[in-house]
Amino acid sequence: MNLTLKIWRQKDATAAGQFVTYQARDVTSDMSFLEMLDILNEQLIGRGEEPVAFDHDCREGICGSCGFLINGLPHGPRRGTTVCQLHMRFFQDGDSLTLEPWRAKTFPVIKDLVVDRSAFDRIIQAGGYITAPTGSSPEANVILVPKENAETAMDAAACIGCGACVAACPNASAMLFTAAKVTHLNVLPQGRPERDERTLNMVAAMERENFGSCTNHAECEASCPKEIPLEFIARLNRDMFKAVFRPRREPLVVRGALQQPAFEDT
Ligand code: SF4
Ligand code: FES
Repeated sequence: MNLTLKIWRQKDATAAGQFVTYQARDVTSDMSFLEMLDILNEQLIGRGEEPVAFDHDCREGICGSCGFLINGLPHGPRRGTTVCQLHMRFFQDGDSLTLEPWRAKTFPVIKDLVVDRSAFDRIIQAGGYITAPTGSSPEANVILVPKENAETAMDAAACIGCGACVAACPNASAMLFTAAKVTHLNVLPQGRPERDERTLNMVAAMERENFGSCTNHAECEASCPKEIPLEFIARLNRDMFKAVFRPRREPLVVRGALQQPAFEDT
């Protein structure tokens, strides 16, 4: 099949970008979308032109590095599919496809289809670890995990951090991503001791990074290649309220937030 590709080309983070039209010839239905771009790039290199930059690593739908908009849809038209697992059999001969990078000010374009998603890393750094010294690995089954919690944690851990949820949201909100990352630790017994600090710190980091607010459009859920459900956002909101109102001896330290004294000196 032959396709027309309108691809966003941008030399670097400061240059102005523009769409450039290419013809992809002799594309077979067995090719993956990224293999089709590989062939286009070989042709561009052969002509002495700059290849199209795009992120990829595993090409198995597990690393989260790939991702761009195909005809305005994050990861393309197939539900629950990363762009690296999208195959050309889902397109028709003569199709015209527009490829552009995630559009969100929190994900600035680095080059062509590659964006800087380090804001996600900073959200994870703000709370996605356990500080208690845990020693060597415990025996299996020493800490019993209820089956429902184990499955919820596994579902949340399926988030690959690709950023499609942010790109799809009209507010560029990172709530689905943050909710998945908070939930996969908060529901497990090992993650319970620090759940309040983790929740508040990750939400505060999300705010600092200037992601938008969630107003329940649900575009994130529809575009997520790992089908992370909106239910996790409800869980995050519940965990956040509990963290704020749970009585405790010491005030929680939320990085970047103003610390209110417990009482004023008179
Ligand atoms: S929630 Fe889904 S869309 Fe968002 S980063 Fe995780 S895997 Fe990607
Ligand atoms: S390249 Fe790893 S998820 Fe697509």
